[in-house]
Amino acid sequence: MKKKLSLLGNLSINEFLRDYWQKKPLLIRQAIPEFTGLLNPKQLIELACDADAQARLVHHKRGKWYLHHGPFDAADFTSLGKAAWSILVQGVNHTLPQAADLLKRFSFIPHTRLDDLMVSFAPKGGGVGPHFDSYDVFLLQGSGHRRWQISAQHDRTLIADAPLRILQNFTPEHEWVLNPGDMLYLPPHWAHNGIAEDDCMTYSIGFRTPSYQELGEQFLVYLQDNLCIDGMYADPDLKAQDHPSEISTQMLGKVADAIKKVKWDKADIASFLGCYLSEPKPHIFFDPPEKPWTLKRFQQSIKSNGIALDLKSQMLCQGSEIFINGESIQVDLLIYPILRSLADSRQLQADNIPDDACKLLYQWYLDGYLVPVAD
Ligand code: SIN
Ligand code: CO
Repeated sequence: MKKKLSLLGNLSINEFLRDYWQKKPLLIRQAIPEFTGLLNPKQLIELACDADAQARLVHHKRGKWYLHHGPFDAADFTSLGKAAWSILVQGVNHTLPQAADLLKRFSFIPHTRLDDLMVSFAPKGGGVGPHFDSYDVFLLQGSGHRRWQISAQHDRTLIADAPLRILQNFTPEHEWVLNPGDMLYLPPHWAHNGIAEDDCMTYSIGFRTPSYQELGEQFLVYLQDNLCIDGMYADPDLKAQDHPSEISTQMLGKVADAIKKVKWDKADIASFLGCYLSEPKPHIFFDPPEKPWTLKRFQQSIKSNGIALDLKSQMLCQGSEIFINGESIQVDLLIYPILRSLADSRQLQADNIPDDACKLLYQWYLDGYLVPVAD
């Protein structure tokens, strides 16, 4: 944690967290020297045309902004004419192993906070306009160059009739041109505008910052699914009422007592958080293996090449609970460290895996949550 990292502009993780994280922007020249990207524009456009892609196409023509959601067709990109445009694809780490590897460099921020890798391409002049986001982001420059303008401004008025969130009065305070390998960290709510200087690809490592309202609502959903209150309303002591339409104090008291039995503690909140934060987004599905290996062959592969989480899998842990893709499993403390190590590094290779852990891993393999590492 004290080692200086070029990824963080020669700051240590502790220094970055103390002085910048969620506090102020940081421009890092040559954060990843020699980084020129993982995809070329053609490959990104192919991804944007995939039926499962979460892709957006933004263009700006004669002072007006336009937004289209994918999946797209190659023809969508040939009809853009002279517009300044940008294509943005979310969740590239779910399909591209190198993108998942890139995210691993950011593991100094807990996995509970990580969202995904978005990749954008824009020809000269393209961008998504001045805006602010409600999450932290590292904007890593791939091929080409992007001019970033940023501002701490409090005026967050948006253009009223635009299909995307564009600031009406953007007043840049700082401005830099990022070269391949340069990176800009932005905390939530910093206004920013990125304009392509040439054919430009930007890699956004995005983090999630759920609102307390969202967490509260989702916790109630979780409680509802896990609620168990014994008994039924009964009134053998019923008294005649002058006004039959009135809810009696007797009924109120009984129901209030029953509802008081709904209790929760930190362990429930941990279970909720683990399930909620590891829950795949609605468009994500897992593919079980077509010809599954036997348990024995699977065990052998953990020893030899190891296993890895599928690119779409999310795994977290807490106490003695393991969470994978929205499911929770209480495990023996003896096997917890080995599973945590899989969750930490998204892969595992080990000689002696206890049987209990092996059975669990095998089930996840059958569910498509895990894949054996190829030779
Ligand atoms: C981009 O255009 O690649 C970055 C989008 C953003 O500013 O969030
Ligand atoms: Co942004």
